[in-house]
Amino acid sequence: MTTKSVAELLSQDVTLQDVTVKGWVRTFRANRFIALNDGSTINNIQCVVDFENFDEALLKRVTTGAAIHVTGELVESQGKGQSVEIVVKTLEVLGDSDPETYPIQPKKHSFEFLRENAHLRTRTNTFSAVMRLRSSLSFAIHKYFNENGFYYMHTPIVTGSDAEGAGEMFRVTGLDAKNPPLNEDGTVNFKEDFFGKETNLTVSGQLEAETYAMSLGKVYTFGPTFRAENSNTTRHLAEFWMIEPEVAFMNLAGNMDLAEDFMKSVLSYVLEHNKEDLEFLEKRLLDEEKTKPQAERSEMSLIEKIKFVVDNNFKRVSYTEAIDILRNCKPNKKKKFKYIIEEWGADLQSEHERFLVEKHFKCPVILFDYPANIKAFYMRLNEDGKTVRAMDILFPGIGEMVGGSQREERLDVLKEKMAALDIPEEELWWYLDLRKYGTAVHSGFGLGFERLVMFATGMGNIRDVIPYPRTPQNAEF
Ligand code: 4AD
Ligand code: MG
Repeated sequence: MTTKSVAELLSQDVTLQDVTVKGWVRTFRANRFIALNDGSTINNIQCVVDFENFDEALLKRVTTGAAIHVTGELVESQGKGQSVEIVVKTLEVLGDSDPETYPIQPKKHSFEFLRENAHLRTRTNTFSAVMRLRSSLSFAIHKYFNENGFYYMHTPIVTGSDAEGAGEMFRVTGLDAKNPPLNEDGTVNFKEDFFGKETNLTVSGQLEAETYAMSLGKVYTFGPTFRAENSNTTRHLAEFWMIEPEVAFMNLAGNMDLAEDFMKSVLSYVLEHNKEDLEFLEKRLLDEEKTKPQAERSEMSLIEKIKFVVDNNFKRVSYTEAIDILRNCKPNKKKKFKYIIEEWGADLQSEHERFLVEKHFKCPVILFDYPANIKAFYMRLNEDGKTVRAMDILFPGIGEMVGGSQREERLDVLKEKMAALDIPEEELWWYLDLRKYGTAVHSGFGLGFERLVMFATGMGNIRDVIPYPRTPQNAEF
C-alpha cells in the first residue's frame, strides 16, 4: 500500500481497495466527514468515518489543523461536490491541533490577520493556490529560458556597486555576531565595513549579467534583490525576486519582442497547468467584486484578463507620444490627475501609467525612448541626444511590471554619463572593460516576479504573493 497524494486520488475514476493518504484536517463534520488537504491540490478529499467503529477519544482529536493518516477504500462518492471519497478503515492522528488556539479556523480570515500568521496561511485555500501558482510560474520561467538557449546565471547578493545609481541600497557590514567590532566605550561599532570594503545588498544583477552576456551570449538571472526604499505601497517590497535576461547583439526592439514573448509564454503555462487554482482565485475575486459598486467592478474575470494578455499584442508607445496623450486627455470629468504633466521631460506618476493602460489603451503598454535624465546611467543614448533606449512595460491593475533598456555600449559616451552623475570610474572599472574589449550592442530587462504573481493570481497586495514579505514593518519570520 503506497501513500498517494490527494491530487492523485481525486484524479482516479476507479475504485481502489487499499489507499493510504496523509494530510491536514480542514473540517470534520457530523462526526462523519473529514475534509482532508495535503497541499497537492486546492481540493480536499472527503474521508468518511463510521463513528461507531472508532474510539470516541480518537475522533475527538480529529480537529481542524491536525495531521492525520488515513487508510481505506476509494469509492465513488454518494454526496455532491466530489467524484470519489475514502471510506476510512484506519485512522491515526499524527499531530494534534488544539482547536482552542489554532489560528486558522474554518471561516474567512482577513488578509491582514493571515499576514501575521504567515507561517500557517498556506493552510488556507487562497494562499495555497497563490503559492502553487508562484511555484509554477518560477518553473515556467526557467523552462522558457532553457528552451530558448539562455544560461542561468547567479549574480552576487553582496556587491560593491549600485546597479541603478539610485542609492536605494541596504548597507552590508562585516559584523561578526559572535565577536562584533567594538567602539572604545565598549558598544558595538555598527559602522564596520564588510572586511574593510563598503558593500550593499544588490538592487539588481544587471551589471554582472551584462558581463556574462558579453561572453555567453544569452543569460538570465532569477534571484532576490533588495531596495531600501521606505515605501508602504501594495506594490513595493524591500526584498523581491527579479528575473533579468541580458542578450548580446540585441537592440531595444528585440528586447521588447523578447519581453512580450516571455510574458505570454509563462502566463500560457499557468493557464494550462494551474486551472483549478486559477478557477478558485477567479471565484474569490468575483465574490470580492460583488462588494464593490457596479462602476468599479472589473469588466473581465481573472482568467479572461490573463487570456487577453496572452492573445493580444502589447501596445508600443514612445514617451513623447504618451506625454501628448496625457496632456490632451481628460481622465474623468470630475477627477483630474493629482500631478499634471506640464512639460516634456517630467517623470510619469503611477496615476498616469494607470490611465494609459487601464483607460486609454486598455492593454499592456510598452513605453520606450524616455528622457535621459529620468533614467539610469547605463542606458543607450539616442541620436537626438536627449532620450535613451529605455522601456517600461505597464500592466493593467499593476502598473510597472518590467524595466529594461538597450545598454550604452560606447566607452566615451558611458564615461561622460558617469562623470556627469558623479559615478567614480574606479568603482565600475570592470563594467567599463566590457566597452573597451569587444563592445557590442546588447540589451536586457528586469521583471519584478511578485508583480507578475499578483497579475496571475489577482491578489491586490504584493505582501500576499511572497511567503515572508520584507517591508518596513515586517521582518519577523
Ligand atoms: O525598473 P527597475 O528598477 O530596473 C532594474 O533594476 C534594471 N536593472 C533591470 C534590468 O534592466 N535588468 O526594476 C525592475 C522591475 C520593476 O519594473 C518592478 O517590476 C520590479 O522590478 N521592482 C519591484 N518589485 C517589488 N518591490 C520593489 N520595491 C520593486 N522595485 C522594482
Ligand atoms: Mg523601473
